[in-house]
Amino acid sequence: MREFDVAVVGSGYVGLVTGACLAYIGHRVTCVDKNERRVADLQRGKMPIYEPGLEEMVARGRSAGQLRFTADLPGCAREAEVVFIAVDTPPGEDGSADLSNVAAVARSIGRALSEAGERERPLIVVNKSTVPVGSGDYVSMLVREGAEEAGNGSVDFRVVSNPEFLREGSAVYDSLFPDRIVLGAESREALDTMRELYEPIIEQSFPAEMDPRPKAAVPFVTTDLASAEMIKYAANAFLATKISFINEIANICELVGADVSSVAYGIGLDGRIGPRFLSAGIGWGGSCFPKDVSALRSIAREYDYEPLLLDAAVCVNERQRKQVISKLQRELHTLKGKRVALLGLTFKPNTDDLREAPSLEIARTLSSLGARVVGYDPVAAKEAARLQPELKAAFDPYEALRGAHAAVVVTEWEEVRSLDPARAASLMEEPRVLVDGRNALDPERCRRGGLLYRGFGRA
Ligand SMILES: NC(=O)c1ccc[n+]([C@@H]2O[C@H](COP(=O)([O-])OP(=O)(O)OC[C@H]3O[C@@H](n4cnc5c(N)ncnc54)[C@H](O)[C@@H]3O)[C@@H](O)[C@H]2O)c1
Repeated sequence: MREFDVAVVGSGYVGLVTGACLAYIGHRVTCVDKNERRVADLQRGKMPIYEPGLEEMVARGRSAGQLRFTADLPGCAREAEVVFIAVDTPPGEDGSADLSNVAAVARSIGRALSEAGERERPLIVVNKSTVPVGSGDYVSMLVREGAEEAGNGSVDFRVVSNPEFLREGSAVYDSLFPDRIVLGAESREALDTMRELYEPIIEQSFPAEMDPRPKAAVPFVTTDLASAEMIKYAANAFLATKISFINEIANICELVGADVSSVAYGIGLDGRIGPRFLSAGIGWGGSCFPKDVSALRSIAREYDYEPLLLDAAVCVNERQRKQVISKLQRELHTLKGKRVALLGLTFKPNTDDLREAPSLEIARTLSSLGARVVGYDPVAAKEAARLQPELKAAFDPYEALRGAHAAVVVTEWEEVRSLDPARAASLMEEPRVLVDGRNALDPERCRRGGLLYRGFGRA
């Protein structure tokens, strides 16, 4: 295996995990971030994010001398053979992806390349951020513009799209054992170089402390730039739509007296459908699905195409969050003067990410309707209360439930799944409603414990 000099720009959920995993499989990696405090923390081994297994992975890379951290992007771009762009692409006001961070990095790479003069091999600039179709060409243009600004526009580089599919909460595992690696480029040579870089993952030849290995080999999909960029949006749009689909079915189940959990199990056994992403509840959130579906809708509209199915997926999702409030209103009547406990605040378990977390919107709505809201989360309660000051942080689920008239399961952390209904009921006030936004608890056990259980699509 050839050892590459790699720079990864952006040390967040994607960049830091990618950098740590590339170091683990044997490359020399420098993670770059413009946030100097984040860099200083990482240099001391302090993690900026919560991601299972990441801290150990970073510590291992640092002590082996394979992984370092810096804020000096130009210095890294000059030395590296491959530069990954893994910066955030947040939604702009109109829903389209804001590419200003990607653009700043691309220009800076161009300037660095220009100043470095001739190279032995072209620099491979890999776009790992989720970006609209056409961004590969946009990045090429900006690298060249940056180089021209620095006085030498004839720089040697290739742009590659390498969309990321890791899931927060299992990001390290997903990076080492991915379902596939997707690469898009117009240059065969660049694709071959990327194959070489990823070889230990594709062939699963790196040392793994896991027996048996979950994967024998990883499919390596090569395509053109636009198709690679589209694969990322299409994957997230499909998954979001799948969740909205089961939520639509759940709502109909409630009307006709069917149980969506049985329905999901029954349809999920069909190999064409599959069992995953069929959990009904309060819907999708997080830093990816809302922004990526919104960016894809915005791309379609640029071409005067109405993305009706995607629009519907978003509408169903918005309605699910409102259903939490309706279910509470149905049982509590007025929310004024009522105390509601939110159990789990991050957008899903095993992450500290609160971007577009349903909990924050639910807390805002509840408090605008006069309720007092207490939120429990094993890792993000303090940060959630900072972002949503109407929310009082609790550091234990039972502390959140003390004196509450109702509770909402927002995120199915293990600590929430394993809640003791009888203990919860003993701490709560009448009518002791439990709205299970993830259908994560056993309705019968909750009822026996003294809770008024309300799930989604459950008879
Ligand atoms: N988080 C996920 O689960 C996930 C999964 C797949 C794809 N993605 C995509 O990957 C990209 C990164 O997402 P993330 O969640 O890692 O973001 P993040 O916000 O966690 O991290 C981004 C990092 O980039 C840094 N940064 C921004 N501009 C910079 C610049 N000019 N120079 C150097 N550093 C800069 C920020 O300081 C931050 O540390 C996004 O496009 C996202 O859509 C994210």
